[in-house]
Amino acid sequence: MKVAVVGATGMVGSVMLKVLEERNFPFTELILVASERSAGKKISYKGTDYTIIGLQDAVDAKPNIALFSAGGTTSEIWAPKFAEAGTTVIDNSSAWRMDPSKKLIVPEINGNVLTKEDKIIANPNCSTIQLVMALAPLHSKYQMKRVVISTYQSVSGTGVKAVEQLENETKGIKGEMAYHYPINRNAIPQCDVFLDNGYTKEEMKLVKEPKKILGDESFSVTATAVRIPTAGGHSEAVNIQFENDFDLGDVRKLLSQTPGVIVQDNLDTNTYPMPIYAHNKDEVFVGRIRRDESQPNTLNMWIVADNLRKGAATNTIQIGEYLIENNLV
Ligand SMILES: NC(=O)c1ccc[n+]([C@@H]2O[C@H](COP(=O)([O-])OP(=O)(O)OC[C@H]3O[C@@H](n4cnc5c(N)ncnc54)[C@H](OP(=O)(O)O)[C@@H]3O)[C@@H](O)[C@H]2O)c1
Repeated sequence: MKVAVVGATGMVGSVMLKVLEERNFPFTELILVASERSAGKKISYKGTDYTIIGLQDAVDAKPNIALFSAGGTTSEIWAPKFAEAGTTVIDNSSAWRMDPSKKLIVPEINGNVLTKEDKIIANPNCSTIQLVMALAPLHSKYQMKRVVISTYQSVSGTGVKAVEQLENETKGIKGEMAYHYPINRNAIPQCDVFLDNGYTKEEMKLVKEPKKILGDESFSVTATAVRIPTAGGHSEAVNIQFENDFDLGDVRKLLSQTPGVIVQDNLDTNTYPMPIYAHNKDEVFVGRIRRDESQPNTLNMWIVADNLRKGAATNTIQIGEYLIENNLV
């Protein structure tokens, strides 16, 4: 089992290496790939130094699985070349997510749709993954009608440059800007670029991707995505209107029984999820579960997860594990 990590020097790529090690991912050969700028540099993994290679050399090495996190353009150009060489690509960018011929996978929810023929598999957007992990069990039981999401997203979701911008600003150093505005002590109501409809690309990912993952177009979603100066993970305030009424105790029970979801919800002890505590964890944390008293069958909750873990690296690696366990690669 040869595994390539494409984008190994990036935020997601470096967490991928950590998660591969932690989960003891069953590979015999590891191929680390980045841009030509990094080719020749060394990265240490489990005490061994690996030399970073370029994309063409990696295609020629014919890995069984390539874990991609090197941006949309790299994926668009290179994922098909790997696929043609027989590699199964699991891609973290937005390049293939909404392509009708590609599957968008959160293994706990729809891993069962994967087949041997899937050579390019899309990993959903980070803010989508944590959202659907909490929505999926509730949707099956109560049938969602409308979801309203407001996000509070970590700078690590933008990549290395944004984390550096925040660090520089907190130290009072003038440096390169990943955002149009300062992020320290700020809240920027723009994640990614604006589209013609006035929403950002990130907001429209939250609108479209849950429907594809849940295989259901019958509910509607609207979102506002905001960048805040946190580094540990993304938070989401979510309002869900269901077709059917629910019991709050049942909602908590259902979420507590969902693999990969942890309920942290105790008002007596001021217990609720927060990004500094979700940092470096693979689970999705849910709290502040309460009835929306302004309309029937409607729930409010707060969802937090480490965007570089379950939102990216961990989900990608879980897809790889699913493929191996089910002989699909
Ligand atoms: N950050 C998140 O929370 C998150 C979550 C889900 C998905 N993603 C997606 O994952 C991807 C990477 O995000 P990131 O946050 O890790 O970004 P990042 O920290 O900026 O890292 C980008 C990585 O891509 C490599 N790269 C850039 N251009 C390349 C090229 N032309 N050929 C080969 N490699 C190239 C870089 O290599 P060099 O070091 O050589 O430049 C680096 O390893 C993006 O598509 C992003 O949308 C990110």
